[in-house]
Amino acid sequence: MTAIDLRFAIAEALERSRDRSTRLTDAVDDNDLVRQHSKLMSPLVWDLAHIGNQEELWLVRDVGGRDPVRQDIDELYDAFQHPRAERPALPLLNPTEARAYVREVRDKVFDVLDRTPLEGRKLVENGFAFGMIVQHEQQHDETMLATHQLRTGAPVLHAPEPPAASGERLPAEVFVAGGPFEMGTSLEPWALDNERPAHQVQVDSFWIDTVPVSNGQYLAFIDAGGYDDQRWWSERGWAYRNEANLTAPRFWRRDGDGWLRTRFGVVEPIPLDEPVVHVCFWEAQAYAAWAGKRLPTEPEWEKAARYDPETGRSRRYPWGDEDPTPEHANLGQRHLRPAPVGAYPLGQSAYGVRQLVGDVWEWLDSDFRPYPGFKAFPYKEYSEVFFGGDYKMLRGGSFGTDKAAVRGTFRNWDHPIRRQIFAGFRCARDHRPD
Ligand SMILES: [Fe+2]
Repeated sequence: MTAIDLRFAIAEALERSRDRSTRLTDAVDDNDLVRQHSKLMSPLVWDLAHIGNQEELWLVRDVGGRDPVRQDIDELYDAFQHPRAERPALPLLNPTEARAYVREVRDKVFDVLDRTPLEGRKLVENGFAFGMIVQHEQQHDETMLATHQLRTGAPVLHAPEPPAASGERLPAEVFVAGGPFEMGTSLEPWALDNERPAHQVQVDSFWIDTVPVSNGQYLAFIDAGGYDDQRWWSERGWAYRNEANLTAPRFWRRDGDGWLRTRFGVVEPIPLDEPVVHVCFWEAQAYAAWAGKRLPTEPEWEKAARYDPETGRSRRYPWGDEDPTPEHANLGQRHLRPAPVGAYPLGQSAYGVRQLVGDVWEWLDSDFRPYPGFKAFPYKEYSEVFFGGDYKMLRGGSFGTDKAAVRGTFRNWDHPIRRQIFAGFRCARDHRPD
């Protein structure tokens, strides 16, 4: 990519993320923007100004070497200083001020982008710092989308329906032969520190589901009394099931003999062929045990997604090396729901595994740990401070994840009890040769 192409690509990605932040915050009135819709989330106006503040810190001050725009508000928007529950009580910028602030920062950033050589310093090499800020904004946009899902009231977001299932008969599982593969990346220019470096990992033979677990399959687990049968739950999972009185995915409720769900303000019957979403790690783990399987590990997921057994190399995405298009995956809030299982035939991996990228994040039975040779960059608070914490890995992105913030190597993590995120799962099992 030439330097000019790179600048255009950065500008396009910055604009795409800002368009989305604007859509998510313009969809509701000022009252709604400053309210806390759930203790788990920030007020939307906090996310907006925080997006601008991170952009100011990294691109205006650090990369650009410019004077601060609003140094006085750094502390308010430091996620490590104030847990989400505290944020509504802070003297935050009001919606008008927050919008003016992010606009002022963005104007300066475009000027910095025009004048900064994108080489010679690791932070700007291949536009890394700009890519990091694009990903940061898109990650907060997905968080804001989750806030929209938690908010009560009439629907304010609208989008076309995702594509239908392909209609083919797919095998329930595919076999992945044991052997080494290259996990992580040393080449992807905007990959974050925790995805690096590329390294060989040995994986035993295993079977993995061709598609994510559907609502219909999950309903069979509910109907079989899965939530009331301790056999399927780990010790911590059972304790949480009882503490939170879990009986179904979040946003589901019983309606006579059936179930309804609320999705961005719309109450609707549960679509049986859609991947289940809004389950926590413990629920995913219990379902897998009930089904006689288990959750995949993180190396298994990445091998099924990236490894091409014909060439012996790992791809950037399941389908190959080209960036995601709307034919490959359900990403970017283009649709407000996952597509039915079996959709996106062009997005399948070399093994024929579908919907690894897009639709729903997938819970994995792995903890968040650094790869061998990990180096924190550009700051410890991105990944390093979370290593070894009480987190489980999530891979592949959801319908609410932008293409800039997911790839075959992208790693996400969250507490195993989280249910408001757009997470589902698929199952795997060991290969036992007879
Ligand atoms: Fe942030």
